[in-house]
Amino acid sequence: MYLIRSGTVVTAEKSIDADVLVEGEKVVKIGKNLSFTDAKTIDASGKFILPGGIDPHTHFDLPMFDTVSSDDHYTGHKAAAFGGTTTVMDFIPQPDEGKLADGVAEWRGKADPKAAIDFGFHMNITRLDEEIEKEIPKLLEHGIPTLKVFTAYNGKLRLEDDEIFRVLKIAKEHNMLTMVHAENGDVIEELVAEFLADGKTDPIWHARSRPGWLAVEAVLRMAALAAEAKASLYVVHMNTAGGVEMLNYARQQGVRVMGETCPQYLFFNEEHLSRPDGAKWICSPPMRTKTDNTRLWKALIENEFQVLGTDHCPFFYDGTTEIDYEGSPIAIPGKELGKDDFTKIPNGLPAVQDRLLILWTRAVSTGEMTPNQFVALTSTNAAKIFGLYPQKGTIAEGSDADLVIWDPEKKIKYGVAQSHHRTDYNLFEGWELIGYPEKVFLRGNLIVDGEEWHGKAGLGKFLHRVPNGEFI
Ligand code: URP
Ligand code: ZN
Ligand code: ZN
Repeated sequence: MYLIRSGTVVTAEKSIDADVLVEGEKVVKIGKNLSFTDAKTIDASGKFILPGGIDPHTHFDLPMFDTVSSDDHYTGHKAAAFGGTTTVMDFIPQPDEGKLADGVAEWRGKADPKAAIDFGFHMNITRLDEEIEKEIPKLLEHGIPTLKVFTAYNGKLRLEDDEIFRVLKIAKEHNMLTMVHAENGDVIEELVAEFLADGKTDPIWHARSRPGWLAVEAVLRMAALAAEAKASLYVVHMNTAGGVEMLNYARQQGVRVMGETCPQYLFFNEEHLSRPDGAKWICSPPMRTKTDNTRLWKALIENEFQVLGTDHCPFFYDGTTEIDYEGSPIAIPGKELGKDDFTKIPNGLPAVQDRLLILWTRAVSTGEMTPNQFVALTSTNAAKIFGLYPQKGTIAEGSDADLVIWDPEKKIKYGVAQSHHRTDYNLFEGWELIGYPEKVFLRGNLIVDGEEWHGKAGLGKFLHRVPNGEFI
């Protein structure tokens, strides 16, 4: 039992100076001058008490290009916790053959024993036939009411538009939510072939082969399909200025479409891909332009996006050289796989620990965003959209005691040495951060205390979600 005293309790709606009493896994009382003799008292004066972050977009232990993303469901959860995130949602790859249920079993098998924070799953639908169509609603029995489809990665993950339309209609019928990766697979294939034939193999060509215009087009195309299916849609990792305009246009027409962006699209652009170590920034969709950075930032500040996720999918920059992880040496093949060919560089980057730290520093500490808006974008809105509210995403009597005691004054020079991602680089290397988690609780368990880790594999629970997500 904990009594967290004299902090400022922040929810998406309001901030109040109050004490928070935690009993077992739940918040049981919020009020002024609470006293409870049996509780361990923590003084939070001068600190904010935030609901644990929810990151609805991670890829742990994901096989890709003859390697695997370098954080698994333990190391990634631990890094998330150090950044103030207590719930993550990962994407299950659809098995090449067989049933969706087999994919669920595989991902549960990987995650359940390792999970250190609470977690849910979305199901990728990357191959559709009548059997799969019948099986989609059965995902609800597994606690998975959310699907992801792709308009790119031809021959691998992509569905055709008519197939996506069918998925949207099934999702609508069963109150499920479809998420979409919106790029133009055909044009990407064409440009990749052209560039490779011309010997254009540096990382910058990754971005040039995946043009922003065609991502703008894909956002509108997907919104149009959602409109016609009368279904809800969540566009993941939005990355272009034009995409924001398409999102706004569709929402103004009454289409139930929501948008997520990620830290990397706010701060990095093609200049970073042009650096000698540009492979560090390779992910899909790619880094865009400074103009896109600026418009995406404005969209975040002005609530044109509903969620800030991460698309955390890390790889080593140099997977031939070991790093020390929790006292043991480890190296996992990474970006060096594509040193002579950008198409062989595994797509993805580390971010799950960085999200709250970077947003607080750049938006809240500068006065551009209120702490309440910060909580909405990093926790509450995701809880509502993905059917976890009010168990998660808020601080209320009866909600899970997923709490972050946040020190708004703490200054830290950030980088790979401070981050717990299991990889050898951090994109925010050298950034001066203001504001940092001091203590993190998962369902009443103190899992992060300063730099000390008290969490453990198996403490995190699978969140069996029901199809009651909100459109916001
Ligand atoms: O580069 C990325 N984002 N890798 C993960 C897969 C995806 O499309 O989200
Ligand atoms: Zn994606
Ligand atoms: Zn992703």
